[in-house]
Amino acid sequence: MKPLSMSGVYKYKNKIFTENPNYCKGLKVYDEIIIKYNNKEFRSWNPYKSKLSAAIHKGLKILDISEKSDVLYLGAATGTTVSHLADIVNNGVVYAIEKSPFALKKLLKLCNQRKNIIPIMSDANHPERYNVSVPLVDFIYQDISQRNQDEIFINNIRKYLKINSQGIIMVKARSIDVSLKPKQVYNMVIDKLELNKIKIIDIIDLSNYEKDHAAIVISS
Ligand SMILES: C[S@@+](CC[C@H](N)C(=O)[O-])C[C@H]1O[C@@H](n2cnc3c(N)ncnc32)[C@H](O)[C@@H]1O
Repeated sequence: MKPLSMSGVYKYKNKIFTENPNYCKGLKVYDEIIIKYNNKEFRSWNPYKSKLSAAIHKGLKILDISEKSDVLYLGAATGTTVSHLADIVNNGVVYAIEKSPFALKKLLKLCNQRKNIIPIMSDANHPERYNVSVPLVDFIYQDISQRNQDEIFINNIRKYLKINSQGIIMVKARSIDVSLKPKQVYNMVIDKLELNKIKIIDIIDLSNYEKDHAAIVISS
């Protein structure tokens, strides 16, 4: 099990892994594989089920995130990627925003097992609605396939991201404009972020794993 340059992420053969916390030993979140190594447990991180894993498989090397980071996660769904981020920030907290009661029901089960995920049923279009529960954070992750996904990201960065901190948006081109080529849509999103004084750090095309998606890493 070899640590990668990204904090808390490991490689074994052609798969990547995060470390399952001691108190979750033996517990799977989806259909991942658990491997025991040096008295620790590692969960495989499937690039076809998590866009962050796909981005790492496609060359994303570094994110400014550590075991102490607090993360705001927009579009948590049932918690597949949330769970791996929670492994990485094992001394921090993942604030998981999700608007679907159906997805949240499964997410709550995960939160009962893991002590560093706070589930919040809310609409990321209204960041002011969760300001009682969410502090300023070290990292923002967004995976919301809505037409105004860039606006949602910008508004949450403004409200919750600490200065000189990073975030990542998983852009689904077809949710923004089906009539344009994905690259044109990514460029539109990049222009809008830059217009809002948000720096672009990296752009990773996720094709092969997620059609017409790109991961855009930013800094505030
Ligand atoms: C593509 S899924 C996220 C998958 C998840 N990030 C993962 O990797 O495990 C998108 C999720 O965003 C949620 N969503 C869509 N619009 C939202 C909004 N305005 N606020 C909060 N959640 C939203 C959807 O209900 C859905 O569960």
